[in-house]
Amino acid sequence: MSAIDDAARLVSDASRTVVFTGAGMSAESGIPTFRDALTGMWAEHDPMTLASPEGWRSDRDLVWSWYADRARQVRLVEPNDGHLALARLAVAARIDGRAVSVVTQNVDDLHERAGSAVASHLHGSLFAPRCESCRRPEHADVAVADPRPACPLCGASMRPGVVWFGELLPRDDWSEASRLVEECDLLIVVGTSGVVQPAASLPERARSNGTPIIEVNPEPSALTPLATVHLEGTAAEVLPRLV
Ligand SMILES: NC(=O)c1ccc[n+]([C@@H]2O[C@H](COP(=O)([O-])OP(=O)(O)OC[C@H]3O[C@@H](n4cnc5c(N)ncnc54)[C@H](O)[C@@H]3O)[C@@H](O)[C@H]2O)c1
Ligand SMILES: [Zn+2]
Repeated sequence: MSAIDDAARLVSDASRTVVFTGAGMSAESGIPTFRDALTGMWAEHDPMTLASPEGWRSDRDLVWSWYADRARQVRLVEPNDGHLALARLAVAARIDGRAVSVVTQNVDDLHERAGSAVASHLHGSLFAPRCESCRRPEHADVAVADPRPACPLCGASMRPGVVWFGELLPRDDWSEASRLVEECDLLIVVGTSGVVQPAASLPERARSNGTPIIEVNPEPSALTPLATVHLEGTAAEVLPRLV
């Protein structure tokens, strides 16, 4: 039997599936990976400046503009066939009384726009800015405002709602992702290199529980050795076939 048949059997046997996605999930929508996004006017900037609390404190205007730019870029693109296939899978599963949950490392909103309810945004969201001081959340449109707005409540600066290097993951998203992975009977890993911790420990947890893992990635990743089935190909090619 081919790998896709093996994977299809795992999907149809599962009653609680978790789909764990990374930057590769959105690549075919035209969202560049972090490093690939450092082109044009951003080419001279150090990624650590743009993605750390120290970088933020050293130049809030610059860091805010970078995320506002990325949020505007996401608004210009559409979910791809992979996002749509996952949303269809969840609808079909629900009709049979089964569950498909999405846990993503992505900060875009393409799963939601394809129709998936995202259970956990492990690395936050481009569209959930908040006050850096009192943490008051602001609505999504504020994320694309430039220059950087002040908090209407306390006057401190708004900050992007993404998780930077050295920061803790949002507590509720992390505990929900951990619970879902602990309780699932199939993990589908899509488009992640598996090197960003602690997110990458979720597939290790599934593996140590004996939960089968399907990986979708055109390249081998750090998670490939954990996979029961590796489907070599892109999210937009492979997920519609699998579903
Ligand atoms: N869209 C987004 O929201 C976005 C974009 C860039 C980076 N990030 C953040 O950067 C961090 C990077 O870690 P990561 O593991 O998510 O990404 P990564 O960039 O480290 O790895 C991307 C993985 O996707 C694979 N890939 C490339 N094209 C693919 C395709 N078309 N289909 C399937 N797989 C494909 C690559 O082989 C690689 O293994 C994450 O924390 C994430 O939050 C998010
Ligand atoms: Zn405030």
